[in-house]
Amino acid sequence: MHGSRQTSFIAASLALLVSLGCDSQIDRFETNRVFSLTLARSQSLEMVEAEADVARTLDSLFGTPNAPKWPKALLDKLELESPVDFDNLKRAAGRISSEQDGTHLGLFREHCVVCHGVAGSGAGPASQFQDPYPRDFRHGVFKWKSTKRASKPTREDLEKLLQHGVSGTGMPSFSLLASEDVDALVDYVIYLSIRGEVERRLLVRTVSDLDYGGEVAPGDEHRLTYPASEAVEEVVEAAVKRVVKQWVIAADEVVQPTDQITRLSGDELRESIERGKAWFHGPIANCVGCHGVEGNGRVETLDYDDWTKEYTTRLGLTPTDQDSMQPFRNLGALTPRPIVPRNLQVGVFRSGDDASRLYRLITQGIAGTPMPGVLRVDEENGKGLTETQVWDLVRYLQSFGSESL
Ligand code: HEC
Ligand code: HEC
Repeated sequence: MHGSRQTSFIAASLALLVSLGCDSQIDRFETNRVFSLTLARSQSLEMVEAEADVARTLDSLFGTPNAPKWPKALLDKLELESPVDFDNLKRAAGRISSEQDGTHLGLFREHCVVCHGVAGSGAGPASQFQDPYPRDFRHGVFKWKSTKRASKPTREDLEKLLQHGVSGTGMPSFSLLASEDVDALVDYVIYLSIRGEVERRLLVRTVSDLDYGGEVAPGDEHRLTYPASEAVEEVVEAAVKRVVKQWVIAADEVVQPTDQITRLSGDELRESIERGKAWFHGPIANCVGCHGVEGNGRVETLDYDDWTKEYTTRLGLTPTDQDSMQPFRNLGALTPRPIVPRNLQVGVFRSGDDASRLYRLITQGIAGTPMPGVLRVDEENGKGLTETQVWDLVRYLQSFGSESL
């Protein structure tokens, strides 16, 4: 972090501490108003009523920042395992304090809110000084994980992430925290992500299924209060089921190479790296198209991540046009920043540089970003790379790290 950024960061942290002194501001989770405006714009609708009713439904399912709830009975009814431990949740939530036995409470507020915000929107007070911005957990999309592109991360992925941080970004390492504290924070991230994704789904469904947003207010049988009419209950249950299930099955979605990488040395290693370099520049993987010759990062690209695209380009708005961004900024959206394909010659990989991580990176790409995955094929067919070719490419990527030593 640069000097001036660091100062502003500290100022933001202090401002946050002062504001946390009076807890009134964080008695409730803020509504996802940027998404609500996105929907209102794309459907030409009013979302005020839907917002209020969705917020009330979320309160009854998930509680508040100081008093979280967990819809265990609903999950039992839906025959779903719980991906979150409620005792951990209570430890990570609420005000910062300690119990007599030394147990820390309020962990999320102590360590994460300054960047990720109370509801996990990624727009905490220090977020504007970060590039990339802190993650908005409410999309349910995560970049650095061992699972398939569209899948949730496993608990282990999140634990490792907190232990190591994300090199080259503002996301710090929390390796000094006790493992129970890290464990509780992992539960809290999953909780915020589930809550935020259910909120998004419910906002969509109010419009698509429940008559909200039209000229006439929805009648009682369509109002999103819970428990409610069967139709409304179904909408809520479907949203919860869809989101929670993805977290429950995450561990089955881990991407495993068929064969492990073989350790090579000398000429064999050099030849494999040379072949990897050829695949990097070749037409199938075409990594060069974004990362430049030998990964030098000197290609002009102007693209945005999915979090930003949702309320900009996908609505036909230009992210750099301040006037069209203003209504979103007023509701808490951060200034859109382009996403830049990495200069690989720096040799810093955010997801780590061990072979299996890089294998997943190449075959899955990076969720939420323009970086695509390369198709893995069993035999050379001009459409994808074989396992051996992927390993060549892995060795080529690893050579960036060692060369810069
Ligand atoms: C100084 C700011 C900062 C703090 C404090 C911070 N983070 Fe982050 N966090 C970030 C940034 C920036 C990213 C985005 C990194 C990227 O896109 O590669 C991020 C990303 C993440 C991700 C998403 C990783 C992925 O795979 O997509 C998780 C989960 C996360 N942080 C959890 C936490 C938790 C839990 C805490 C508190 C224990 C925390 N963060 C504290 C800045 C911060
Ligand atoms: C469409 C553009 C595009 C293409 C094609 C592309 N990338 Fe990327 N790549 C990106 C972007 C954007 C990022 C930065 C993502 C981020 O940090 O969130 C990135 C990041 C990376 C990283 C850093 C990962 C980390 O852990 O920090 C590596 C390594 C990488 N790409 C390798 C490749 C390889 C190898 C290929 C070809 C198989 C490739 N990329 C193709 C856009 C692209």
